[in-house]
Amino acid sequence: MQNNKDIIIELNKELSSLTDLTSIDQLEVKYLGRKGLINKLLQKIKDVPVNKKKAYGQKINQLKNEVKRIIKIKKLELTNNKTDEFFDATLPGKPYPRGSLHLITSTVEKISKTFQRIGFIRMSYPEVEWEYFSFDSLNMPPDHPARDDFETLFIDVPPAPKLGKMILSPHTSSGQVREMWRCGRPPIRMVSIAKCYRPNWDTTHTPMFHQFESLCIDKNITITNLKASINYFVKEYFGEDYQARLRPFHFQFTEPSFEVDITCSICKGKGTIGHQKCKVCKSGWLELAGAGMVHHNVLIEGKINPEIYNGWAFAFGLERLIMIKIGLNNMRLLYDGDIRFLEQF
Ligand code: DAH
Repeated sequence: MQNNKDIIIELNKELSSLTDLTSIDQLEVKYLGRKGLINKLLQKIKDVPVNKKKAYGQKINQLKNEVKRIIKIKKLELTNNKTDEFFDATLPGKPYPRGSLHLITSTVEKISKTFQRIGFIRMSYPEVEWEYFSFDSLNMPPDHPARDDFETLFIDVPPAPKLGKMILSPHTSSGQVREMWRCGRPPIRMVSIAKCYRPNWDTTHTPMFHQFESLCIDKNITITNLKASINYFVKEYFGEDYQARLRPFHFQFTEPSFEVDITCSICKGKGTIGHQKCKVCKSGWLELAGAGMVHHNVLIEGKINPEIYNGWAFAFGLERLIMIKIGLNNMRLLYDGDIRFLEQF
């Protein structure tokens, strides 16, 4: 029998002179058709000794596949090189779909710029943190409920002396004492926008979320400074019609402490729509952030003399800011990666 290699050489030789699809079809019949070369070779299998039939069959199959492949490539070459189609070079090109920044990213940039304008510097601190910076340095006792494993994610490594267990930072406040150590001597004007982690998953919580924290330490800092800074941010982010208010609250690391509310955008701060209570806020205000005057003990942990300096701190949840601004009722939409939602912004 003729060698496979010789048959392929022959086929290539014949193909090289062909320039139209019809003659390639004819050549295909000559090799692969019912009465074609390959089938003829296959029929000869009956004359092959039993112990060689298998090898013979395999050889013919290899040949068949190779012939099919070569013919297919030649056909593709011919169809791709067609030059008789009219090509209009004056038609405008197809525009590429335009991407946009994710809502979280554009909000981070916006907040960064807003604070840069009033002299705050943007800082980053570790997301994989020690208990010390997230809790102890912030005046939180060892039995504080936030340190439970259903509030904080712990990493399975041995604890370090003084620093405690390794965790994923549950809030941006972990940067406060780190910043005091880094800076050494006030004034401090810091903003940190970062990922935080807590084991929660529902329509208003995702296990990874963002907060932005601001810390200001200097001489003679007052609650008035705190309120003015929050008001400045709220008006920059939401618009001039919005108001912020401070409502007394309790945090371990600030004294006094406040929760920050802003005017509800649905009822415009009235608390009612017509004769009915506003279903979104019930009171005219929406809770938005935690804030306060930095606690004496936190300043001491930060190696800052509380007799000379004092300061304020606050933190907003980024996703909540976005949800209120665009009227979103499911936070998970921000992380589902559904292009139909994302491309609207
Ligand atoms: N870290 C607090 C939380 O995640 C929020 C907070 C409250 C931050 C008061 C502050 C503050 O800086 O002063 O719930």
